[in-house]
Amino acid sequence: MAKEIPKFSPAAGFGKNVTDFDLSTATDAHISTLKDAFSEAGVLFFHGQELSPEQHLEFAERWGQINVNRFFATVADYPKIAEVRKEPDQQINIGGGWHTDHSYDEIPALGSMLLARELPQVGGDTLFASTVLAYEGLSSAMKETLERLSAVHSSRHVFGARPEMPGEMSSRIGNQEAALQDAVHPVVIEHPLSGKKSLYVNPGFTLRFDGWTAEESEPLLKFLYGHITRPEYTYRHRWGDGGMAFWDNRATWHFAINDYHGQKRLMHRITLEGEPLRAAVG
Ligand code: SIN
Repeated sequence: MAKEIPKFSPAAGFGKNVTDFDLSTATDAHISTLKDAFSEAGVLFFHGQELSPEQHLEFAERWGQINVNRFFATVADYPKIAEVRKEPDQQINIGGGWHTDHSYDEIPALGSMLLARELPQVGGDTLFASTVLAYEGLSSAMKETLERLSAVHSSRHVFGARPEMPGEMSSRIGNQEAALQDAVHPVVIEHPLSGKKSLYVNPGFTLRFDGWTAEESEPLLKFLYGHITRPEYTYRHRWGDGGMAFWDNRATWHFAINDYHGQKRLMHRITLEGEPLRAAVG
């Protein structure tokens, strides 16, 4: 039956659309096919799914252990599902800048399954960038330079208590006292699934190169951020009803576009545990 066999088509230079497939019917063989596609593509886009929160959780659990984000509000009765919500009277969205989730953790999350629950009539797209393609597009000399570096990441400046945190965020972000940790990761990692090299710095959470000051780090980080967001390494995803994006934090960045003021957007996000990151060698 058509709805039971996953078909794949490229979304861009990276990322794959999965069509003709109802996630709630996934067999172990389907999961294995999807895992291969995920490892290769960095992000999978599913369409027209009619998943209950239980089915969303069940599907996620077939990939690994769920990581409960300590800062996000959760869905009522589902503490393992984070809410990515913007109401018509709110101005700020969650994730409205380039980032990769959880890079501030010692063991950053593998990725997230973001399921559309209520979409604005117009707008609310999400941008994705491939940190694997971006790495491959650098010169050999730059690759060698970066492979010797690590970078410091933090959650303090984003989720920690700070006077300029807008009041409207208080219903969506909490637990600010838990924003204590910094983590150091290699700038070029060997991707845990594909073995490909990937750039692991991001504008959301990276503070500086390890052993460098923030001022010294800024020009090179700025270059890398501009490079990773070149059009050939990015893709703009337009959401449809029942759409779900499943991205890999170690191979992509994402950016939720905030262009739908006065309308509501509600997404359910389940995040999966990752594994320690290793520096790419050779
Ligand atoms: C996020 O950064 O997790 C949210 C992405 C989105 O809402 O499109």
